[in-house]
Amino acid sequence: MAQYKVAWLTGASSGLGEAAARRLAADGTVVCISARSEDKLRAIAADFSNIHVYPADVTDADVLTEIAADIEKTHGPIDLALFCAGTWFPGSIEDMKIHNFHKTFDINVNGVANALAAVLPYMLERKSGHISWISSVAGYGGLPDSMSYGASKSALITMAEGLRPELAAKGIDVTVINPGFVKTELTAKNKFPMPFLMELDEAGDAMMKGLKTRKFEVTFPWQLVWILKFLNILPYPLYFWLVRKATMKS
Ligand SMILES: NC(=O)c1ccc[n+]([C@@H]2O[C@H](COP(=O)([O-])OP(=O)(O)OC[C@H]3O[C@@H](n4cnc5c(N)ncnc54)[C@H](OP(=O)(O)O)[C@@H]3O)[C@@H](O)[C@H]2O)c1
Repeated sequence: MAQYKVAWLTGASSGLGEAAARRLAADGTVVCISARSEDKLRAIAADFSNIHVYPADVTDADVLTEIAADIEKTHGPIDLALFCAGTWFPGSIEDMKIHNFHKTFDINVNGVANALAAVLPYMLERKSGHISWISSVAGYGGLPDSMSYGASKSALITMAEGLRPELAAKGIDVTVINPGFVKTELTAKNKFPMPFLMELDEAGDAMMKGLKTRKFEVTFPWQLVWILKFLNILPYPLYFWLVRKATMKS
């Protein structure tokens, strides 16, 4: 029997979100998928009778509220809300573009808050449910060329840390997913070496295996995770020295 009856996923038109949607649908969950690219969502839904398409831009809070209400009415109580929508603009500080900074926060942080606000009232009323979103190991601490992305992902980790105990008292589990590098459209634009780069299939399996335990943090691959976790407990001078060495920044 499927662990979840009804799931709502954002950012499910490609990459990790699509991988999660396909795995949940194969398990027998009714999966409602959102993203901006309706054509891609429809192509995924064409492979399953239990995937339903709800196109949306996560920066539009009103649309997300309408979608959550529609899913609850049409398909029943959402017991998994998995927010995968995210963006990343590569580039160094020399060509900082302020609108890209704002866009990163609008999609990565406010987009999650918008979706959370849409689904939370239903789960609070039922005193049950599982809420999860994808942050990143880039959120563990500041890294060069990643100011806006890293900060947006740190915010997502902090939000989840605060919510986990708060919502546990109300019967709702919170899980933050912190992947390292995974081969997707998002990382295809990267021109720098990506240590321990994972295939999407492997990452999708690791994500779903971890998610189903309902633990707080799901993270992979362990090699990059432990290097970065270790770096972030070091004193700042040592941290900056090692980061400069690793990234060749002077
Ligand atoms: N790949 C990695 O190495 C890696 C590592 C750590 C964390 N992550 C995180 O994993 C998540 C998924 O990324 P991915 O690697 O799977 O990349 P991806 O294939 O590019 O997927 C990004 C998803 O977000 C959706 N999206 C972007 N902007 C949106 C918006 N305004 N409204 C609604 N949906 C939007 C995209 O769909 P549309 O364009 O159709 O809207 C797409 O479905 C992101 O949060 C990313 O930061 C990825």
